[in-house]
Amino acid sequence: MPNAQLTIDPTFTIGAADRRLFGSFVEHMGRCVYGGIYEPGHPDADPRGFRRDVLELTRELGVSVVRYPGGNFVSGYRWEDGVGPVGDRPRRLDLAWKTVETNAFGLDEFMTWAVEAGVEPMMAVNLGTRGVQEACDLLEYANHPGGTQLSDLRRKHGAEDPYGVRLWCLGNELDGPWQVGHKTADEYGRLAAETARAMKMIDPSISLVACGSSNRRMPTFAAWEATVLEHTYEHVDYISAHTYYDPSDGDRASILASAVDMDNFIREVVATADHVAAKQRQKRKLKISFDEWNVWYESRLQADLDRRGWVEAPALIEDDFTAVDAVVVGDLLITLLRHADRVGVACQAQLANVIAPIRTRTGGPAWRQSIFHPFALTARHARGTVLRTEPVGPTYETKRYGEVPVLDTVAVHDEETGELAVFAVNRGPNELPVDLDLRGLPGLRAVEHVTLAAGADPAATNTEAEPTRVTPRQLTTPTPDGGRCSVALPACSWNLLRFAPQS
Ligand code: AHR
Repeated sequence: MPNAQLTIDPTFTIGAADRRLFGSFVEHMGRCVYGGIYEPGHPDADPRGFRRDVLELTRELGVSVVRYPGGNFVSGYRWEDGVGPVGDRPRRLDLAWKTVETNAFGLDEFMTWAVEAGVEPMMAVNLGTRGVQEACDLLEYANHPGGTQLSDLRRKHGAEDPYGVRLWCLGNELDGPWQVGHKTADEYGRLAAETARAMKMIDPSISLVACGSSNRRMPTFAAWEATVLEHTYEHVDYISAHTYYDPSDGDRASILASAVDMDNFIREVVATADHVAAKQRQKRKLKISFDEWNVWYESRLQADLDRRGWVEAPALIEDDFTAVDAVVVGDLLITLLRHADRVGVACQAQLANVIAPIRTRTGGPAWRQSIFHPFALTARHARGTVLRTEPVGPTYETKRYGEVPVLDTVAVHDEETGELAVFAVNRGPNELPVDLDLRGLPGLRAVEHVTLAAGADPAATNTEAEPTRVTPRQLTTPTPDGGRCSVALPACSWNLLRFAPQS
């Protein structure tokens, strides 16, 4: 079989690799907050109860934006329950996850944690059981400098300066019948438009995200986006997209091709948004906020929920990710980068314990799951301008997505330093030789080839006992000769190839 071919040219630009593509998500769900980022009494907790080990891993992960507080949770949440003296905060039933919410952690704690973690907060307002007024109240509390009841309440609670939250989600997954306060597209579209208009009266500098579909398989997908955008286009900056890929059926060939589905999903949401823009003669192009994405063994969720009554912070969907799952996550990041012109925000769901790159034991250590590694390396090295690559190579057949390419790639070029990062996934079960043509970027030398290969032990996971079983390793990289070189991508692997100008 001939080698796969990959040509990289700095003139084939897509857009800037926005830092906001490396977002994450903290929901009041399972042990993401309680026992995850926040655990007073833990030996490594700071005086505010923030786990230092998790803070450190969050920084190492390179997370830029963190969406909060949900997720399904937000659709029944009263934000004011989570501010003020902790002893006065009410215990409530959280209907989304059949959990008792203590409200020990709330808005002010999250904002303090976000500063400590070095991340930008992205807030969601409740448009399930609540409406325009409560969203405005929350925004006034968070962003208004002072001199009003709610902004002064924030100051009384210790935050003299406004939080200046720039990104706001108008509800969560309201197309889903599981959502508390589920709505039709018209009901939601009207409410989102009115909420957006009012919120921008309070703070015109904010950016707003309207809810798109919960996933591409929803029967209302695309019609939902079209109707919602008919109502909201002129008032919002993003339409959301969510997707999770479930490897539970063991169909490895298909799960490795999940990025093909994400790619089509993005194209379809863009087409729908552009259709509405054309109808309404809107000049401004809307972007996607891909604010929930990941691999998720979702079929196990119901069993988790059925197994218990109303309890505090139960272990929920604490999936152990395999080496194959890490390759899939790396490929989903490649896809998000490839659409950097139209995807402006992306949040991997979630940050700690709940389908997360960071796992903890309550009272015990924290460790990196397999999926931590491609995220951290991509966030660190995807700097500059995303370049379009059109790899030519073999294909294979999948049950879920038909015939798909074995090789998936994207490149990011940093014009300031001259560095080039090539991200490549070999979805196939055999090593894949690739001929690289870098003649458009003369004078590059190889820096490193990092690989996370799942071929030898696809089901390997990182656990408390063996936290480094799935870890990237270094391969030797050839320096291009006359702008050309060949690399071998290990079987079923995610790869980062770095090049820099010859000194
Ligand atoms: O991330 C877990 C859940 O998945 C979120 O709460 C919800 O928005 C989505 O369905």
